[in-house]
Amino acid sequence: MSKHIPEEIIEEIRLSNDIVEVVSEYVRLEQKGRLYFGLCPFHKEKTPSFSVTPSMQIFKCFGCGKGGNVIHFISAIENLDFIEAVKFLADRAKIQIPEGDDKKEKDRARLRSKILQINREAARFFFDMLHSQAGNRALRYLAERGIEEKTIRRFGLGYSPPEWDALYNHLREKGYDPEIIAKSGLILPGKKGGYYDRFRDRIIFPIFDVRSNIIGFGGRVLDSSLPKYINSPETEAYQKGRNLYALNFAKNSSQKSVLVVEGYMDVISLHQGGIINAVASLGTALTENQGRLLKKYFDEIIICYDSDTAGKSATIRGLDLLSELGCNVRVMTIPEGKDPDDFIRNNGTEAFLKLMDRADSLIEYKVKLLKNEIDTTTIEGKVAFIGKIADLLARVGNRVQMEMYIKKLSAEYEVSEEAVYSEILKRLDSGNRMKPVLQVPKEERALHAGGQTTGVSGEDRLLELERILVCLLCIDNNIYKHIKDIIRMPGFFSDETAPLAQKAAERIEEGRGLVPAELLNFLDGKNAAAFSEILEKECNFEDNLKAAMDIIKKMEIIKLDKRKQEILKMLGDKNSTKERDVVKLTQELNALILRRKKLN
Ligand code: CTP
Ligand code: MN
Repeated sequence: MSKHIPEEIIEEIRLSNDIVEVVSEYVRLEQKGRLYFGLCPFHKEKTPSFSVTPSMQIFKCFGCGKGGNVIHFISAIENLDFIEAVKFLADRAKIQIPEGDDKKEKDRARLRSKILQINREAARFFFDMLHSQAGNRALRYLAERGIEEKTIRRFGLGYSPPEWDALYNHLREKGYDPEIIAKSGLILPGKKGGYYDRFRDRIIFPIFDVRSNIIGFGGRVLDSSLPKYINSPETEAYQKGRNLYALNFAKNSSQKSVLVVEGYMDVISLHQGGIINAVASLGTALTENQGRLLKKYFDEIIICYDSDTAGKSATIRGLDLLSELGCNVRVMTIPEGKDPDDFIRNNGTEAFLKLMDRADSLIEYKVKLLKNEIDTTTIEGKVAFIGKIADLLARVGNRVQMEMYIKKLSAEYEVSEEAVYSEILKRLDSGNRMKPVLQVPKEERALHAGGQTTGVSGEDRLLELERILVCLLCIDNNIYKHIKDIIRMPGFFSDETAPLAQKAAERIEEGRGLVPAELLNFLDGKNAAAFSEILEKECNFEDNLKAAMDIIKKMEIIKLDKRKQEILKMLGDKNSTKERDVVKLTQELNALILRRKKLN
């Protein structure tokens, strides 16, 4: 994970960014005892379950489960990978990162910047072509669709001529290497060798990232032939699902809402009409990544897809996901199945803004979809409809808001408020209500669980015990010398934990030591969260060494019990176990039972 920035530098950067200070730039924190609490920025909540532990320099949300050190926090909230987050924090602390000497990483960065350069050159070529003799038809096409010259310039629109190699030849003349050009996705290898242009006789839409680099292209035919669009493939510079078309403009709109539409032409028409807080997802369902990116710049997301796409279950799942991220989501529908481009051209900006104002909340929108699905003219239909409404409303955490919806929806769909309300109550009583943050009862915790506790499997408990042990080693490096002979035995740790234990052992042997928050530097977001939870909840012992010995004992018990079950199973299966093995297994079993007794 930290291949091209040395471990020590990552750790220095982590130490130079106090987690309370950094988190405070995003979350209002309040101190309570040794912890700070706040509303989790990663999911929607009304009471704080997000905590920061300054002594350990970790954060943890017991609502959504996110956790880690300051690097994981920045990675999640700024939508960066681990190394990007390290760089972000290096900037913040004004620490210079020495030029990495990881050759592979350097090559990738060089390739990316080369592709961006080629893309820029290509965009210029397409733009010039649009304004040349060859581009007449294309320019006329855009004019007929109401696109003005200033819009063409702003979005850098262009035209790719019909020849098989117009762009290829141009880029060759500019001195670019065919293999590198191919890596930009702009040309493809031909069957008989050589290369040909991907985009031919198409209107070209350069795709910008937030920093206005040109990362890829889309190309539209000038008539009704198929495929209507082709797009750049994923390249070192372009990862689909990681950015949104026109976000580079929309982020400067200083609006609190962002409008998400489907296509290039929709965004372009809206921007031309003065609605510059519009972005396009380019025909795919929104990803979590895009959700977080939008949340960074806007408070509210208004989805405006055509009615086919908007009703699809993939879209609804995407909207639920945005809502879980804590985004306020609304859905706007355009009458008569028109798309935003058609609508704004025919009806103007004012009319569009009015529709936008009337966008439904996610719940209202879902009820609308239900109404279309269920025939409410029959009694059964009406009952089912009320039941489904109650399912949705029972999940609204806020009582005032719930009441508002009951009133509004009852009036709108002509069902009785009482009926809806009593259905909701049934659901709340049957345990459907928003559950308070689960507090794991003490007895259930790994340490106190002997062997028979239900729910958690032996494997899971073993892994958790291993993790607690590694955490303990980091919290108190002194216990290492007492337990090293045991924990260094081959097979003592599972493959998952072994590298971490190894790392801790190395560091302690070297005399450099390892603290818990640094341990997290070696973990991805998910594992960092698991370890943060353990550090926060499981690691407050009076006597760390005693606790460690106890854990080692518990681990052995679980392993012995597991082996015992295996042996019993083999012995029970007379057909496939040879006589000679039966003797050996029985011996092992006896030894095992003896050992097990000693441990009790
Ligand atoms: N799309 C695509 N490939 C296709 C069709 C669509 O990549 N074969 C993507 C494009 O990003 C397109 C978006 O899905 O912009 C929405 O598709 P559609 O509504 O069909 O196109 P419009 O953008 O409305 O284009 P136009 O108005 O020119 O028909
Ligand atoms: Mn369209």
